[in-house]
Amino acid sequence: MKKITLALSFAVLLVTLSGCGDKPKSDVVKYKYTPAQVYTETCAHCHGAKGEGIAEKKAPALTKQSVQELEMSLFDIKNGGIGGQSTATEHDVMEHNMKKLAEKGYDYDIKMMASYLHNTFYVAK
Ligand code: HEC
Repeated sequence: MKKITLALSFAVLLVTLSGCGDKPKSDVVKYKYTPAQVYTETCAHCHGAKGEGIAEKKAPALTKQSVQELEMSLFDIKNGGIGGQSTATEHDVMEHNMKKLAEKGYDYDIKMMASYLHNTFYVAK
C-alpha cells in the first residue's frame, strides 16, 4: 500500500512539474507588428504607399526586385544598423536607422518582410 502511494505521489509530482515550468523553448522571435504594419508605419513615407519609391527622399522603388534581392538588401540594412556587420553604406544604415526602429518595436523578420514587399509591390517587367 505504501509503495503505491509513493508511486502515485511521484507521478503527481512529475505531472505538476512538467505542467508548470513548461515554458516553450523556441528560437522563434515574436515580432510586435506584421511586415505590413511595419511598412505602412515606418517605410512608406520614403518608399511610397505602393512601393513606388519617392524621388525627393531618394528612396528607390521596391517594385522590381526579386525576393532574394530584397532579402539581401534588408539583411545589409538590418545588420548595418544592429549587428554592425554588413556591406551597406553608412547612408543606407542612416536612412533606415534600424536600431531606432527596433527600439520602438518595429523590428521585422527579413524573410517575411522580403516576401511581403515582393507579394505586395512587385510589378512584372
Ligand atoms: C528615410 C527614408 C527611408 C526609410 C524610412 C526607409 N527607407 Fe529603404 N531606402 C531608402 C533609401 C534612400 C534607399 C537607397 C539607399 C542607397 O542605395 O543608398 C533605400 C533602400 C532600400 C532597399 C534596397 C532597395 C534596392 O533595390 O536597392 C530596401 C529593400 C529598402 N530600402 C527597404 C526598406 C524598408 C523595409 C523600410 C522600412 C522598415 C525602409 N526601407 C525605410 C530610404 C528609406
